[in-house]
Amino acid sequence: MTLINVVNLAYLLAAVLFIIGLKRLSSPATARSGNRMGATGMLIAVVVTLLDREVLDYTQIAGGVIVGAIVGATLARTIKMTAMPQMVAIFNGLGGGASALVASGEFHKLTSDAADVGTDVGVTIMLGTFIGAVTFSGSFIAFGKLQDIVTGRAISSPIIKTLNPILFLTALGLGGFMVVLLAEGSASMSEVMPLFLALVVVSLALGILLVMPIGGADMPVVIALLNSYSGLAAAAAGFVLDNMVLIISGSLVGASGFILTRIMCIAMNRSIWNVMFGAFGAQATGPDQAGAEGRQAQSTTAEDSSIVLAYAKSVIFVPGYGLAAAQAQHQVKELADLLQSKGVEVRHAIHPVAGRMPGHMNVLLAEADVPYDQLFAMEDINDDFDRTDVAVVVGANDVTNPVSRDVPDSPIYGMPILNVDRARNIIFIKRSLSPGFAGIDNPLFYNPKTRMYFADARRALTDLVNAIKEL
Ligand code: TAP
Repeated sequence: MTLINVVNLAYLLAAVLFIIGLKRLSSPATARSGNRMGATGMLIAVVVTLLDREVLDYTQIAGGVIVGAIVGATLARTIKMTAMPQMVAIFNGLGGGASALVASGEFHKLTSDAADVGTDVGVTIMLGTFIGAVTFSGSFIAFGKLQDIVTGRAISSPIIKTLNPILFLTALGLGGFMVVLLAEGSASMSEVMPLFLALVVVSLALGILLVMPIGGADMPVVIALLNSYSGLAAAAAGFVLDNMVLIISGSLVGASGFILTRIMCIAMNRSIWNVMFGAFGAQATGPDQAGAEGRQAQSTTAEDSSIVLAYAKSVIFVPGYGLAAAQAQHQVKELADLLQSKGVEVRHAIHPVAGRMPGHMNVLLAEADVPYDQLFAMEDINDDFDRTDVAVVVGANDVTNPVSRDVPDSPIYGMPILNVDRARNIIFIKRSLSPGFAGIDNPLFYNPKTRMYFADARRALTDLVNAIKEL
């Protein structure tokens, strides 16, 4: 068997591992092995590429691998679960930046050699540079917003709205012009380099201005979209380098990032256009208007709620962003275990966009060792609420808000919700009547079946556990 056959077979194996690994990531039970499969595929791809290509300096590569492995392993071990979206944003940004650097390196090499550059290579170099640079700067702004370094507010500015299409068209014009110059073979390095640097600067500026106007809480969607871009940039780099496995892995990242973006948009009943350009979260309508309508929320205590819970037959917990903010996942598990030991049927209902990142609630509850068979996706549990004695909402809000069914002019109209309002009793654990991410009041607070338990989620759950133990 020739070397090229071995290389292609190894690339095929790597691609198969990527695809099976991705599939396994879709369930918490198989996600770890899926992750390992993907990493093994990547190791095979890297080693085989090194054997296949002319390597100028192994020392630099070894240095990069060691530094990268130390930084990656340290981050993975120390990062807090709530800071995971920021870390993904940085990884995306670095991926996009790396693809832009590969394309730039190839551009430099080809123009220095005064080589004839085919239109296809020219186009992929420009695309790799453009998408990679947009992803790089956009991801770092997303990181800044999530980390509160940059304002998390949605900014609706006419200047940005005008600038963005101008920057996009400028990048398109610069890239197209350079492709023609390179294809004609008439341009010298000194002529095209300023144009190339201008393309990089315009693309970086576009990345910043595309993400700046988007509200901080929409960042998970933006990060998934940027993840998709970073995949496209990697695929473009694969074409530039004529590397099959880079094209495949880049395409997989591009497609899966896009699918994830779509899933999140559907779960919020918003278009990607609305997320990117709708300045969602720029204005909020608080709970005062509810007060003005004279509705009264009824509050409860640990003692009263403990009786309702301990004598229930079935309880569904509905976790949301407040569970993550309070880091109350272990207390939910403790309360669930206690109720189960008293013969109560306990389940957890997971809304696809509860929290602030995809799979947020699954990850938190898995961290607390909540059994997978107690976790139910929205569509699998929604019909069961009307047969349920108590729904305990822990720091969730928008994902339970019935206005999405009943009020056509509400910003969340059409967003699928958990049917908490159909349970026989509702206990709402949150600190106040404040709205959630969408900034709108929730009529469920004033439902005669609802009891508001005003407290930090962790405190409330701990007190509930103690109160039930004392019964
Ligand atoms: P939200 O509607 O944002 O409500 C969270 C509630 O948690 C708040 O009303 C807050 O009320 C409460 N809270 C905050 N800290 C708390 C604490 N320490 N203890 C107890 N409660 C606390 O959350 P949700 O229902 O999970 O909905 C998620 C929202 O984010 C949706 O609108 C969704 O569209 C959006 N979103 C999600 C994603 C993903 S991928 N998950 C991506 C983009 C946008 P108090 O201040 O009164 O306590």
